[in-house]
Amino acid sequence: MKIIEAENLKKKYNGFTAVDGVNFHINQGEIFGFLGPNGAGKTTTINMLTGLAHITAGSVKLLGEEYTRNTRRAQVLMGIVPDESNLYEELDGRENLCFCGALYGMRKEQREERAEQLLEQFGLQEAASKPFKAFSKGMKRKLTIAAGLIHEPEILFLDEPTTGIDVAFARQIRSLITDLHKKGTTIFLTTHYIEEAERLCERIAFIVQGKIVREGTVAELMQGMQKENIINFTLGGDFSAVETKFKNTFPDYEIKSGGDSSVSIHSPSSFTLLPLVQFFEDRGLPVFEAKIVRPSLEEVFVNVTGIELQKMQSGQPAMNGHGRKGVAKK
Ligand SMILES: Nc1ncnc2c1ncn2[C@@H]1O[C@H](COP(=O)(O)OP(=O)(O)O)[C@@H](O)[C@H]1O
Ligand SMILES: [Mg+2]
Repeated sequence: MKIIEAENLKKKYNGFTAVDGVNFHINQGEIFGFLGPNGAGKTTTINMLTGLAHITAGSVKLLGEEYTRNTRRAQVLMGIVPDESNLYEELDGRENLCFCGALYGMRKEQREERAEQLLEQFGLQEAASKPFKAFSKGMKRKLTIAAGLIHEPEILFLDEPTTGIDVAFARQIRSLITDLHKKGTTIFLTTHYIEEAERLCERIAFIVQGKIVREGTVAELMQGMQKENIINFTLGGDFSAVETKFKNTFPDYEIKSGGDSSVSIHSPSSFTLLPLVQFFEDRGLPVFEAKIVRPSLEEVFVNVTGIELQKMQSGQPAMNGHGRKGVAKK
């Protein structure tokens, strides 16, 4: 079921078009991601979906109903976690959560109980009686997410949840997001980290200069990417010694980046591994590793948007390097 539907959504600031007629929907229970560089229109879109910004044109439906802001129902259903925290510097962790609960009209004992539950779930017990201003950046972000969840919303909007956070906290936050997903919360998140989108999101929209340029499940986005098959061998000897012989034996394969003890082989059709391994073994080059290279979302993104990776990853990378890696960097 579609929980949110955005139709031809547009936002203009004076003459400048920040969001240029985007169409997308968010299915109930999924993690849907907006992936795009700084200034693409991600925050502006979140603000329009959640009623924080006026919509210039188009419409947003919440559970099939045209959504106009200030509706009590939308407030109850939505949890919002802005990129910059909106919590009170002087209040401690518990007070901040309880204050947010009060804004949602929760009863005193109800919000206190929920606050304790969230402090525990987020590993923030230590922060419960510290003023917010004394928190580390990572703790601040975690409490801000907890605050967005105080009223147990159906759908959580997370604006760049791991940006500017150190690796350990970013990891905790991604795992909290996965846990929420497992419990059935619908999540809309924005990010400029390709690997993060690939790892967390079921469906992703690439957004560039206010427009969605591609949208789909990770598998759909990958489709058509694997134009050729790539296999990398790590050998116990020098490949160049057998290169000529290799080319004669396997004329259909193309050799790229053949180093001394490694070689990358490309082929338009799929590989039969055994003859390759046999070829190397017969020539005294034991095969230490054979790795089939799969395309990564990174390649798809660069391909579709033409945006260089450095441009996307500028700022502090929040990944810890366990994600899938694609073809060796050129
Ligand atoms: N209040 C505003 N007034 C004028 N321009 C704005 C305002 N907010 C955002 N913009 C512009 O709209 C574009 C999209 O911004 P934003 O939605 O914040 O992008 P993102 O969140 O993807 O980085 C940017 O070019 C930004 O400078
Ligand atoms: Mg933003």
